[in-house]
Amino acid sequence: MSAPLVVLITGGSAGLGAATARVFAKAGMRVIINYSTNESRANTLIEQLHQISPLSKTKECQNFVSVRADLSKKSDIEHLVTESVSQMGKLDAVFSNGGWTAIQDFNDLDDNVDEEMWDKCWNMNVKSHLWLMRAAKKYLDESEGVFITTASLAGVRPSGSSLAYSVTKAAQIHLAKSLAVICSPRIRVNSVSPGILLTDWGLKFPQERLDSAMAKAQLKRFATVEDVAEQVLCFVRSRSVTGANAVIDAGWSL
Ligand SMILES: NC(=O)c1ccc[n+]([C@@H]2O[C@H](COP(=O)([O-])OP(=O)(O)OC[C@H]3O[C@@H](n4cnc5c(N)ncnc54)[C@H](OP(=O)(O)O)[C@@H]3O)[C@@H](O)[C@H]2O)c1
Ligand SMILES: *[C@@H]1O[C@H](CO)[C@@H](O)[C@H](O)[C@H]1NC(C)=O
Ligand SMILES: *[C@@H]1O[C@H](CO)[C@@H](O)[C@H](O)[C@H]1NC(C)=O
Repeated sequence: MSAPLVVLITGGSAGLGAATARVFAKAGMRVIINYSTNESRANTLIEQLHQISPLSKTKECQNFVSVRADLSKKSDIEHLVTESVSQMGKLDAVFSNGGWTAIQDFNDLDDNVDEEMWDKCWNMNVKSHLWLMRAAKKYLDESEGVFITTASLAGVRPSGSSLAYSVTKAAQIHLAKSLAVICSPRIRVNSVSPGILLTDWGLKFPQERLDSAMAKAQLKRFATVEDVAEQVLCFVRSRSVTGANAVIDAGWSL
């Protein structure tokens, strides 16, 4: 049997990142999660991953580790990658899932012109993914690995928590396609674009907005974080998909 795959997940201690960590652990992969502030939450998840993994715990080789890093800082991102490789020995997949938004009224132009908000969205939703790819490229080249990023339905349809979020998520999708070209032929690059997910983040939307979004979805429900995690796993496994953006929105955009 070949050595288990090593996967790095950013924004990995909660929400979609944590759900993906569980799906990967169950599939026999080794996982590094990145978190920014909540250390106890990250540690609880690491314990859970040990319990659900089919891999046996060995002293000399860690299967699950967490690394603290601030995605808005380039030097932290570089440290995150070198620390991951020094602890795990290699890197087969990166799930670049961190992101940021401010909840504004999308339909009110005046509510969407704060420069600080725009800069933070560019930094977190576009540049942080570029820095992470740059830091990881050498290792993904060695492993013929894959880079997957979480964009959003808001990057496909003008919609979502704010104009800055929607525009930067669209840029993130274009970045992923561009990286699929630039980092070929050894690295595959894909993105997932979920509709509303009922994570801590998604639950910040007012209830009436959640209700109308669900009514508009053809499947009359929201996609779950597990649905999105299964798609990410599929991108890790499929050897011939690159430059794809998977929209997972229960038919909202149809
Ligand atoms: N939820 C939705 O409706 C939805 C829809 C489409 C796309 N997305 C995308 O899905 C991705 C994950 O979102 P989620 O819903 O899973 O979020 P979440 O439930 O709020 O989870 C956030 C995760 O990211 C970390 N985090 C929190 N604040 C952060 C910050 N300022 N910078 C970097 N990391 C931070 C948290 O760790 P700490 O607590 O340690 O900081 C935690 O691990 C994002 O890229 C988002 O744009 C979400
Ligand atoms: C950290 O996460 C836990 C859930 O595991 C939560 O109960 C706690 O309130 C969080 N702490 C902070 C400071 O957000
Ligand atoms: C790691 O994740 C945290 C949130 O969990 C985020 O704040 C931080 O910026 C991330 N850093 C990196 C380098 O991924």
